[in-house]
Amino acid sequence: MRPPFDTVRWDNGAIRIIDQTLLPAELKFARLESVETVAQAIQTLAVRGAPAIGIAAAYGVALAAHQSSATNVLENVRRARERLMRTRPTAVNLFSALDRQARLFETVDPGDLAAALLREADNLLEEDLETGRRIGKAGLSVLPDRTPVRVLTHCNAGALATGGWGTALAPVYAARDRGIKIEVWADETRPLWQGRRLTAWELAQAGIDVRVLVDGAAASALLGKKVDLVIVGADRIAANGDTANKIGTLGVALAAQAAGIPFYVAAPSTTFDFKTADGSAIPVEERSESEVLDEARNGVRAWNPAFDVTPHHLITGWITEAGVLRPPFQELRPTGSGH
Ligand code: MRU
Repeated sequence: MRPPFDTVRWDNGAIRIIDQTLLPAELKFARLESVETVAQAIQTLAVRGAPAIGIAAAYGVALAAHQSSATNVLENVRRARERLMRTRPTAVNLFSALDRQARLFETVDPGDLAAALLREADNLLEEDLETGRRIGKAGLSVLPDRTPVRVLTHCNAGALATGGWGTALAPVYAARDRGIKIEVWADETRPLWQGRRLTAWELAQAGIDVRVLVDGAAASALLGKKVDLVIVGADRIAANGDTANKIGTLGVALAAQAAGIPFYVAAPSTTFDFKTADGSAIPVEERSESEVLDEARNGVRAWNPAFDVTPHHLITGWITEAGVLRPPFQELRPTGSGH
């Protein structure tokens, strides 16, 4: 089955993305024709969500190679990788995708590098589609036996955040496909409204019931038992399970614990960072104050962290392509990993 949206695709010597800054007012594709425009699309969140960022960056490196000759290709792909690494610090998928490409720099003949890098980016996209399907299937096991199932989510970890099916929303799509009635409560997600703009839009397009609530209402929804469970995505999961995700996720997790409501993280294995022992070592992106204060106000400052880290003890389980897991995530650790 085709995924709901082609969020990021290679298109005849360029990268085509859905420009997510324009949604929901306008569904418009942007053609990215240079590494710099790819980097800027990531920084401005025109393409966003941990897996989608990784895929876009992998294609960005392939783009650099396609615009090079055998004599300067190595220098250009290395420079592209460095530029793309400086776009956003938190989502580990960005770095693992770029590392995957970098391994080819060393092993493939310069004349064959453009084709090899494109193939690897295509592989990443295909793997992401398959992973989303599996996360969806694994997630069905945590849904309660009631009608409708009511899931609260924060930010957008749906089709728009990945190559195709999403992570937190993958079980929602899987439930819909099996005829399970499901309803999503989507936090607005200040300051850039990924919940109100993106999650609400993509679910409405798919014909799935969705209700938007202001971020401050999530605690009341949880303590008032208006939802059955929480599923969110992740940008980086440390070895002990501490999980970075969109700012506001931590508050939802605390309220879920107080309410006795299960709180799940859905993520592909590429979001696990076994080199980072715990959440204190996860770099949290701080963005411009202007995203919080929409007009310049004399004497008023803002603090705008894009992510927070939810301690592992607040998380009921991690829904992955390998099933619903708990630390130490033995099923996902690279064999021979000393961590
Ligand atoms: O700043 P964003 O919109 O890129 O943040 C996205 C999130 O926090 C998502 O929940 C996360 O990347 C998982 S996407 C499958």
